[in-house]
Amino acid sequence: MAPFADDTVIDVEHQPVREFARAVLAGLAQAQKQIPSKFFYDAEGSRLFDKICELPEYYPTRTAISILRDNAAAIAEELPPGAVLVEYGSGASVKVRLLLDAMQRPAAYVPIDISREHLRAAAAELAGDYPRLSVLPVHADFTKPLMLRCRLPEGPRVGFFPGSTIGNFHPPEATRLLSGLAQNLGPGGLLLIGVDLKKDPRILHAAYNDAAGITAAFNRNLLQRANRELEGSFDVEAFDHHAFWNADASRIEMHLVSSTAQAASVAGHWFYFTAGESIHTENSYKYAPDEIHLVAKAAGFRPVCLWTDAQQLFGVSLLAVTG
Ligand code: AVJ
Repeated sequence: MAPFADDTVIDVEHQPVREFARAVLAGLAQAQKQIPSKFFYDAEGSRLFDKICELPEYYPTRTAISILRDNAAAIAEELPPGAVLVEYGSGASVKVRLLLDAMQRPAAYVPIDISREHLRAAAAELAGDYPRLSVLPVHADFTKPLMLRCRLPEGPRVGFFPGSTIGNFHPPEATRLLSGLAQNLGPGGLLLIGVDLKKDPRILHAAYNDAAGITAAFNRNLLQRANRELEGSFDVEAFDHHAFWNADASRIEMHLVSSTAQAASVAGHWFYFTAGESIHTENSYKYAPDEIHLVAKAAGFRPVCLWTDAQQLFGVSLLAVTG
């Protein structure tokens, strides 16, 4: 009997609502109002994100999947047999199947996600499809040090962080996060990470301004979530989705722009918006391969191999913990 032959969610995250409240109240009190992008992913936000992944304009998911599919055998060859695969921000656990299918007897899969119900459903489905794999879902915010103390099953560790979520962090924070993952994986650990590469801004613009308006709905859901969870009074339709390429910072920025002068309350606190004033909701940094490898090295990793697609839209990099 495997030690973790169960797919019961382990809760590391305990006060998601209070944390959301704190972040919104603090973020809206700043000169440039902001709400951290990790709060996009409540149940509704996770559902909308899965729809984004299917959009014709949104190339990252599709491209990451094709890179993993085309190179699954080569990637698996670099991974130790009997590995414990830890996925940071596992979402619907779609990409990991490509890896699991190619790997030599993976021992355990530890999906970590901030969206509890989404995690539970995805883990249960995966456990059903991979009966010999121990599936150990952890409900946690992997950006917090607390998660890094979570004990992992015995075995060689392979981290999986394929969705280019690293792009949501300012470069110094990305370095800090990767050092944390290096610590979590430990000596001899490997990390397979997806990075969205720098490209023609027109391709980027289309990816974050889809014709069907799903990205706009995903962005606005943040205010709907505040209305639902924090007794917010946002007139959600009075905020416009705005996403643009900031070339100087090498990132896509998403904002919610107030279309009129208005006020909204959150948990009893009032906030005022001038017409045209924005709430900054996301950064999505884009890297050149050598830039991401500089970040990786600073975090205690050695780049082993980089796989990309023919158009160099997206990269999947294998990193080894240097200790
Ligand atoms: C999940 C962080 C990779 O930055 O492209 C998609 C989130 N935001 N559309 C990204 C997102 C708008 C996405 N990541």
